[in-house]
Amino acid sequence: MEILRVEDISKVYSLEGEEVKALRDVNFHLDAGDITVILGPSGSGKSTLLSLLGGLSSPSKGEVFCKDKSLYKMSGEELAHFRNRIFGFVFQFHHLMPELTAVENVIMPGWIGGRDLEASRKRAEKLLAHVGLSKRMNHKPGELSGGEQQRVAVCRALMNEPEIILADEPTGNLDSKTAEGIHDVLWELCQKEGRTLIVVTHYEPLAKRADHVLTLDAGNVTKKRN
Ligand SMILES: Nc1ncnc2c1ncn2[C@@H]1O[C@H](COP(=O)(O)OP(=O)(O)OP(=O)(O)O)[C@@H](O)[C@H]1O
Ligand SMILES: [Mg+2]
Repeated sequence: MEILRVEDISKVYSLEGEEVKALRDVNFHLDAGDITVILGPSGSGKSTLLSLLGGLSSPSKGEVFCKDKSLYKMSGEELAHFRNRIFGFVFQFHHLMPELTAVENVIMPGWIGGRDLEASRKRAEKLLAHVGLSKRMNHKPGELSGGEQQRVAVCRALMNEPEIILADEPTGNLDSKTAEGIHDVLWELCQKEGRTLIVVTHYEPLAKRADHVLTLDAGNVTKKRN
C-alpha cells in the first residue's frame, strides 16, 4: 500500500540573487514497510529531499502526499501535529537535549505528543534496552560516546511509533563498526515493527539491504528496485 508520493517536486533556493536548483521535477512513490536508501554526491539534494518528505520545508513546485494527504496544503499547526504522529527523524548530528538524560530524551516526543508519561517511559526503557543501553539510561548526552548518543537518537525517533522513519546520514560521524551496529538496530526495529524507513547515506553497501535505491545527481532522481 502506498504511503508516500512525490509529484513533480522542484526546490529552488534563492540566496543573495543566486538561484540553486536543489531538486528538479522529482517523481516517485513508496509503499508502507519499504526500506529505501538514498545515495548521491555531496550537494546533490539528498537532505533537501528528506526534509520535503518529512514536512520540514515546502517545495517550490509540486506536491508531497503522505497517506493521500497533501502535506503542504495543511495549515502549519495541522502539519506539525501530523509530523509528530507519522514521522520519526534521525539526523547526522543527534540534536539530543544536553541537560536531559538518555531516557528523558527518548520520552520527549511522547511528551510533546501528549502521550501517557508512564507508558512513554516504559517504551523508552524498552527501546534503550534493545539497543544495549540499559546501563546508560540516566546518562546525559555529554556522558555518552558518539555511537551511544546516536543509538539514543534512533530510540527517540521510534518513540511515538512513527509509521515512517527518516534518517539523514545517521552514522556519518561514526567508525564503520559502530555505524553497522546502528544500521542493524534501525533495520531490525523497522522490520520487526513494520515501519517504513528512508535513509540518506554515503555508505554504498547499505544499498544492498534496501528494497529501493534512490540516486540523486544534481537534483535529478533515479529510482531502482532491488
Ligand atoms: N538553505 C539553503 N539555501 C541555499 N542553498 C541551499 C540551502 N540548503 C541547501 N542548499 C544548496 O542546495 C543543494 C543541495 O543541498 P543538500 O543539502 O540537499 O545536499 P546533500 O545531497 O544533502 O549534500 P551532503 O551529502 O553534503 O549532505 C546544494 O548545492 C546546497 O548548497
Ligand atoms: Mg545532506
